[in-house]
Formats: sequence, structure tokens, C-alpha cells
Amino acid sequence: MTQLLKTRWIVFVVILIGACGSLIVTNSSHAQEQRALYLDVSQPLERRVEDLLSRMTLEEKLAVVHADSKFTSAAIPRLGLPRRWLSDGPHGVREDVGPDNWLPAGHTDDFASFMPALVGLAATWNSDLATAYGKVIGEEARQRGKQIMLGPGMNIMRTPLNGRNFEYPGEDPFLSSRMVVNYIRAVQAEDVSSCAKHFAANDQEYQRGTINVEMDERALREIYLRPFQAAVQEAGVRTVMSAYNKFRGKWCSENEYLLNKILKDEWGFKGLVMSDWNGTHSTKGAVLGGLDLEMGTEVLPYERFFMANGFRDGLSSGEFSMSVLDDKVRRNLRQMLETKAVEGRGTGAINTKEHQATARRIAEESFVLLKNDNNALPLDPNAVKSIAVIGENAIQLQAYGGGSARIKAFYEITPLEGILRRIGDRVNISFAKGYSDKPNEELASQAVRAASQADVVVYVGGLNHRPGFDAEGTDRKDMKLPYGQDELLSKIVAANPRTIVVLFGGAPVEMGPWLGKVPALLQAWYPGMEGGNALARVLFGDVNPSGRLSCTFPRRLEDSPAHAMGNYPGKDGTVKYEEGLLVGYRWFDTKNIEPLFPFGFGLSYTKFEYSGLRIEADKPGVMSVKFEISNVGTREGGEVAQLYVQDLKPRLQRPFKELKGFSKVFLKPGEKQTVEIPLNRSSFAFYDPAQHSFTAEKGDYKVLVGSSSRDIRLEALTRLTTTTLEK
Ligand code: GLC
Repeated sequence: MTQLLKTRWIVFVVILIGACGSLIVTNSSHAQEQRALYLDVSQPLERRVEDLLSRMTLEEKLAVVHADSKFTSAAIPRLGLPRRWLSDGPHGVREDVGPDNWLPAGHTDDFASFMPALVGLAATWNSDLATAYGKVIGEEARQRGKQIMLGPGMNIMRTPLNGRNFEYPGEDPFLSSRMVVNYIRAVQAEDVSSCAKHFAANDQEYQRGTINVEMDERALREIYLRPFQAAVQEAGVRTVMSAYNKFRGKWCSENEYLLNKILKDEWGFKGLVMSDWNGTHSTKGAVLGGLDLEMGTEVLPYERFFMANGFRDGLSSGEFSMSVLDDKVRRNLRQMLETKAVEGRGTGAINTKEHQATARRIAEESFVLLKNDNNALPLDPNAVKSIAVIGENAIQLQAYGGGSARIKAFYEITPLEGILRRIGDRVNISFAKGYSDKPNEELASQAVRAASQADVVVYVGGLNHRPGFDAEGTDRKDMKLPYGQDELLSKIVAANPRTIVVLFGGAPVEMGPWLGKVPALLQAWYPGMEGGNALARVLFGDVNPSGRLSCTFPRRLEDSPAHAMGNYPGKDGTVKYEEGLLVGYRWFDTKNIEPLFPFGFGLSYTKFEYSGLRIEADKPGVMSVKFEISNVGTREGGEVAQLYVQDLKPRLQRPFKELKGFSKVFLKPGEKQTVEIPLNRSSFAFYDPAQHSFTAEKGDYKVLVGSSSRDIRLEALTRLTTTTLEK
């Protein structure tokens, strides 16, 4: 290029940049000559945030702290900030609604992959699958143009009756933390922000919009906040959603203790706190209590939101300082710039073969084999002539149910379809619905007849997403199988003892008199779009089930801590967690109550043996717990080695034992593998309210390694020689 041409080219480029700069920068003559710093993605994030904040008008600042439709906050074209889209949910990208109501928007491009429920992801005990899960969510969110995905939910299964248990990773904070951390990291790696919800203690749907939750500080810190703390401090989650309920008398959306003191000050959270939809209650409470983004308040126009006109009035009256607004804006800008609001993101992907394979793998590994007498499973399609598939859940589509976690799915393979696809070409398959939402004699007798005429029965029942079962906004009334299934199952198994039971559901159910008579039982949770294929592969032995319970299955509801102490659903508007730390297996172990099926339990088509437990302090501050696992059976399979810690002389009350590590290994028949699970000081710590800190105290501890919380195979003693406080 000649010198003259090059000079002209440089002049042209300088003018172009200047023009762009002047298009964007209007409030400072100095900046006219420079490209606005916030547009320079090579600059450190905080500098870009500060530069962008410095250019914003009051109206622009207010625009980013409240919604301008059901699931958006406004664009700021002058600064090149696009409209920000949020979307449910934990199991996939929800269909578009609104813009100003909950009605479907009627789009045709808002289908999505329907992933297995999070309670099932937790039951895989495979944190690599949590990463794979998050990648699907992130890629599909980006493809659908969403910047914030409203999940994962991480409330604790305190009662089996909570209608949203299916959306959460079970009863144990350690297992839940491992799952949500990997899920969030993977979503956010796709330039999409995750949302840790519902902060905090939204552990029942009954009166969720008004109930006040009371619990002691140790239960709060060691159980109910733990997954959120991991989401913030290990995964760097960019958004948190405040819960609908009150905590210690104050709305979670304006709870300085939860939002300002713990989340932002103690944990160092730099992201934004959004309200749950219509979960904001006052301007002052939201502004000073730590809310950064008001969503879903049921008023129109959006300027009437608490953090819109009300906030402006408070600023002009001097009730609020501009620094309070600036902090909220910074948190929103951080989230926007971290998801490439300025430079834009690449397109994502949706319902790819990889997404489908991930959904199927998670479903397969989520199934928990609870009973398998005389190797009733797997079924040999070459040795079975006829199968009667019975039960409404064999044909029931689940994707579009459950509330905000619903999905407009591209497809969903039902159990019947999965079985037909797998062996319909060589085995005679019959179907009988057996029940519907009311006990029905005709349906029942058809089912019994089908059972009597088949070699094998595969019964697919359990719960569903109808209100009153696994559905947002409602809790179950009891833990029984609905629609007369106990009686129906007893009749079916009397007609054909070779009855394999498969239960859908997000939480435990009481097993009726039929349990003792059926040879096999499989917990399937809600297995998503590939569920039917995954189920068929497990039933016919292509895959060996490797799921383990992410929650305790009590024999009776009254055995469960929240119910044993009469602390559910609360009274006079308050629910007291008097069981404290003793949630789930912590209660059953400490109170020595035998559950129906324990936390961490699951059978396999093969057998595993454990040996050689030793503890090596080979790295500073880390104890390596090592042992061998052998597959001594005849089939390849996955085993989940679980590590529990027991404080032998606790200074304060502690659960009998607590999960502090796990490792899932897949072994071929005859294969032996050394497993190493690291423990550090926080593995032994408890929260000491007097010191406002977690503390790992010197003393003797037992390390318990097993195949479930009640099947301990190896034990070893260890000692902490010093006491340390966690910062
Ligand atoms: C709902 C749920 C929350 C969801 C939000 C938006 O009420 O509690 O989980 O993300 O509103 O649908």
C-alpha cells in the first residue's frame, strides 16, 4: 500500500473510531478522542464497570435495577447495552412467555432440551455429569439469546412433601454443593450467568409467599446456606435469587443479614441479587436490604416497581444516597459485561446429538435400583415372550409440568416408547393404564388382566407434576402413592409375581404392602427427554444402574425429622426448624431410626468389595483417604464410594456422621482400583456461633467409607492435633 494511501487509511480509521466514540460518548469532550474504555474487552472487568458506570445517567442506572417485562431488563442503546433476557429454569430453557404476563408468547422457536430433574442429577453422584448438564443449559441458553438462567435451585429436602423437591439436589449440603458448583461453572463457561436460588430456606411451598422461617445459626450455616456458599465462593455464581419467604421475621428480598452481611460482606459476593417474581415488598427494604434487581412485581407500568419511581423519589429526597444505587448498578453491569453484553456472544446450540446423549447418560446414571431379588433385573429380551407395561407414567409426558421448571420439549421418550423401541421387534408388549387421577375399577381390572397374561410386568407409576404432587406452589398432603396405586399394585403382583416396579417422583413415597412381594424396584425420578430410552437400557441390561439415593426414604412420614417434631408446615405463619442440624440421614442416624432405604443407597447388577483403607498426610493441610474397590461380580458397573466423618467427642452437638467426600468409579468384572478422597480441615469443621466461624477442633475422628450411609465397609481413626478457625 503506498504511503499516501496508508496515511489516508489511518486518517479514515481514526475518524471512524472518533465517530463511533462520539456516537457513544457524549458527556465528556476529553473522551471524544478515545474509544470508551468499557468497550475495550482487553481491559480489566472492574475498570470497564467503573468506566461504564461513570457514563450512565440516573435514568439509565435505574433502568438496570428493575425489569421492563416479565423476563427482561431494559436495553441502553446510547451505551450499546442490549436488552437483558432472563429465563427459567434448572432443567432447560423455558418457553417464552409474556411479555407482560405468564401466558405463552406463542413463539415457534422456543423449544428446548428437557433434562432430568436435579434430584436425579444428584442421584448420579457424578459431578462430571453436573458439568455436562451445565454445558447443555449454557449452550441452549445462548442459542435462545438468554443472559441469565434461573437455576440451579439448591434448597434442602427438609420434608419429603415439598412440591419442588424434584428441582433440588436432595438432603445433604455436601452432595448438593458438589453438584451445583460444577453445574454453575459449566453454564457460566458458556457466557451465560447462573442463578443460585432460592436464598434462603425456601424448603416448602406451603405458604411460601408469607411463611417466616426460624432456625438456629448452626443449621443455617452448616446445612441450608452451605450449597449457596459453595455456589458463590467455589463457582463464582453471578446471580442469586432471594426467596419468597421471610427469614427470622424479615422478607428474604430485604434481609440485610442474609443479603448484605452474609452473602456480600462475609462471602464476598460481587454479583447481583434478584428478587423472586413478585417477591419484592418495599422500596426502602429492597434498596437498603441488599436487592439489586427487582423482577416480576405484579404492577404495570414497570416504572411503578419499588426500585423504579420509588427509588428515584428516595434519591431525590435524600433518603437514599447515590452510592447505594451505584453499588447495585455495578453488580448488574458486572453480570452484563461478564456475559459479553458489549461485544456479543457466539451462537450456542440446541438439542444436538451431544445434548441428547448427555440427557440420556444422566438419566441412566440417576436411576436407583432399590430392590432386585434373585437378579430379577436385568430382563433378558431373548428369554421373555411378553411384557405388560402398566401405569399412567408409562405414557405420561412430564416436560410441561411442575411450574417454572417446565419445558416446551422438542421430544420426550416415554417409558412405553423406550421399551417398544428397545425390544418391540421381538417381545409382545401390551399396555394398560391401570389408574388415572381417580381410582378406576375398569382401568384396574384391565391392568390385572394384562398382568395375568404376560410373562413379566413392568409397572411405571409414582408421582407426577399435577398440583398437589411434584409441582411448584403446592406441597403433598402425605407421602403415599396417589390414585389407589398401593391397592392396584397389590392386585397386579397377585396376578403376576414377576412385577418390576418403576417409580417416577421427586421425593420419597411410602411403599405399601406390595413392596415385600415385588422382586424389583427402580426409582426413576423425572428422567427427561431421553428417559424412556435410558429406562429400557437399564431394564434390559445395556447399562448397569449406578444411582444412589440423594435423599432418605423413610418408612413412614412421621419418622422424618420435620414431621416427627411437628414442625411442618409451621403454625401461625412461622415454621421452626427445631430439628436443627438433624435433617435427612443426620436425623435417622442420630436418633437410630431405621429408614426404608437410606441416603446413598443403591444396588447394582454386580458386586463391589472394599479393602485397604489408609490415611496419608502426604500434602500440607490435606489428608488423603485411600482404599481399593474391586468389582467381584460378573458385569461392568459403577460404584459410589461415600466418605463420612464422625466427631468422636464433639464439644457441641453434632450429627452422628456427615458426608464429606465421595468418588464414583466404573469397574469391569475382576477389576480393582485405588480410590483417593481428599479431606482438609473444613471436612472436620462445624460452625461455632460463639466465634461466628467454622472451626475444626483438635480431637479424634472416625473416617467411615461405605456403599451407602448405612453400609459402611471400612473405618479408620484419625486425629486433629490443633484447633483452627476458618477465616
Ligand atoms: C417462580 C419461582 C422461581 C422462578 C421465577 C420465575 O415463582 O419461584 O424459581 O425462577 O418465579 O419464573
